[in-house]
Amino acid sequence: MDLAAHAERIGWYHTMELAPGLTTPGMFDLRGYVDRYGLPERMDGMRALDVGAWDGFWSFEMERRGAQVVALDLDDERRLDVPPRRRPTRFPTQPRGAGFALAHDVFGSEVERVVCSIYDATPAQLGHFDIVFCGSVLIHLRDQLLALERIAALCRGTMISAEEYNRAAGLVPFPVSRYRADRKASVVFWQPSVTTWKRMILTAGFDTVEVKGRFTMRSPQGFGVRHVVLHGSNSVTAG
Ligand SMILES: C[S@@+](CC[C@H](N)C(=O)[O-])C[C@H]1O[C@@H](n2cnc3c(N)ncnc32)[C@H](O)[C@@H]1O
Repeated sequence: MDLAAHAERIGWYHTMELAPGLTTPGMFDLRGYVDRYGLPERMDGMRALDVGAWDGFWSFEMERRGAQVVALDLDDERRLDVPPRRRPTRFPTQPRGAGFALAHDVFGSEVERVVCSIYDATPAQLGHFDIVFCGSVLIHLRDQLLALERIAALCRGTMISAEEYNRAAGLVPFPVSRYRADRKASVVFWQPSVTTWKRMILTAGFDTVEVKGRFTMRSPQGFGVRHVVLHGSNSVTAG
């Protein structure tokens, strides 16, 4: 099967140029947002973890910058921690990593993809990382703090987090999260305010946290999702 025909059979999350004139029709095109995340320009000699990599846009971006990258994700959508009504009852026709596998081949990538929930990810299995990248993953988890604790234990440098936040929750003068799982088609349990995200990152074990910026990520379908980019730093050697 030729590349275009293969790519056409995949449901893409990330817009990526696989070859000149062959761009995947992603749910999100992040190419215009890359500068918002504060990735180091060069990542030579760094180990990087991409949590919830899906098609691997960020894994391949970090590899291009010189990092040795591990991409973490689940293949079976039934294992995703989404509200029960949204959880598929059968194994989907495609594993989540189908797009990643194709892009990996096409790019000649050496990114290692590990099928594992962030809830179960430990330094004993994966080692430690200079950069942990976690984009739009925590917002879909019911236990955001457990995932952050796992990330803090894996990170010996900086976590780059980019997540949706709730603006109204930010009007309350203490850290709160808005409960969102009662909406019919919700794939979100909790929408923290920016302050709440910051407090959770510190609670999870990071020494410092910094807001790097806010932006609205627009989908080709026309909806926008407010994001805050936070960097958590871990100078202490985590266990
Ligand atoms: C909304 S996508 C974000 C993709 C990418 N990180 C980005 O920023 O564009 C969420 C990703 O997180 C993955 N994911 C969800 N729950 C996970 C978990 N418990 N452990 C690891 N990955 C998870 C999903 O399979 C999906 O690939």
